Amino acid sequence: MALLGENERALVAALDEPALIVEGSIVRLANAAARQLLGERIEGRDVRLAIRHPQALELILAHRSGELEATGIVEPGRSWRLAIRRLWSDAALVRMTDRTDAVSAEKMRVDFVANASHELRTPLSTVLGYAETLADETDLPPDTRANFGRTIRDEARRMLRIIEDLMSLSRIEADRFVAPGGRVDIEEVVAAAVANAGHLRDRASCEFRMSINPALSSVRGDRAQLIQLLDNLISNAVRYGCDKPGSAIEIEARQDGGWVQLNVSDHGPGIPREHLPRLTERFYRADEARSRESGGTGLGLAIVKHIIERHRGSLDIRSTLGVGTTVTVLLPVAT
Ligand SMILES: Nc1ncnc2c1ncn2[C@@H]1O[C@H](COP(=O)(O)OP(=O)(O)OP(=O)(O)O)[C@@H](O)[C@H]1O
Ligand SMILES: [Mg+2]
Repeated sequence: MALLGENERALVAALDEPALIVEGSIVRLANAAARQLLGERIEGRDVRLAIRHPQALELILAHRSGELEATGIVEPGRSWRLAIRRLWSDAALVRMTDRTDAVSAEKMRVDFVANASHELRTPLSTVLGYAETLADETDLPPDTRANFGRTIRDEARRMLRIIEDLMSLSRIEADRFVAPGGRVDIEEVVAAAVANAGHLRDRASCEFRMSINPALSSVRGDRAQLIQLLDNLISNAVRYGCDKPGSAIEIEARQDGGWVQLNVSDHGPGIPREHLPRLTERFYRADEARSRESGGTGLGLAIVKHIIERHRGSLDIRSTLGVGTTVTVLLPVAT
């Protein structure tokens, strides 16, 4: 056994990530981060007591230099990258880097690409099917041709909407760390969003009730993005929360200390509790059929969430089945 002196101890202690020196199968040295992860009394013990991953152990016990990335090396659900460096014949330095966040970000990216492709492929298949029929069947009655044409138009519009929403989302994300610079008058933003929603409201025969505190402070924000945020909340309230004719949608803006609070409430069927935590995920829909039939892309609340994050605000969605839904947004007032 080679002697481990103060120098080796200081060196391993200076590493931020969990690091160990394993000699034979015994942990000779473990820095504070490694002790916290693997147990305070890990030094002097067999490494197999702390690390249970067969491939990781094989690499460590061979004292060969190499790397390995795996989930569940120490505990289920966390991913680690192990870097093993041979020190001398039967000893190795093992450093561990927590990759849990990177692995889950990568999974989100892969899922996102798969979901986006799926969302675009569905309307595209319809477009192709109808276009082929139109091209091949020359003796279709005129009203059937017109019908097919309308379906192609609607599906193409749907694809365009998905692409525009995705581009909008990526622009907002790109500006994530750029604090919005304007001073925005919320009363004016609400008026603009309500005007945008006019055609939706008329179609659903819904009534808007507004309650805006006239002495509201401005918020530091991006006017166009705040209108986009409200557009999304109001269109959701109309599309999903306005099933009884004459039912009201309430839009409220008030001051709450250093925050401007915006509430958009409807008296619709509400959202089952299990969906609430996932509503801001891209392409997530609580009521798949209804969202699709009303032309929803499932990106609206993802856009809302990113706009609020950029404005250092917060979002809360409360819903009671059979009673309705209230979405609350808090935005910091401009100083
Ligand atoms: N006020 C509401 N009442 C009931 N369900 C709602 C309400 N708001 C949102 N939802 C549900 O949440 C889902 C996600 O909403 P989101 O705005 O992200 O997507 P969308 O409305 O389907 O599509 P988009 O807004 O992109 O056109 C909707 O599909 C719907 O099922
Ligand atoms: Mg929506």
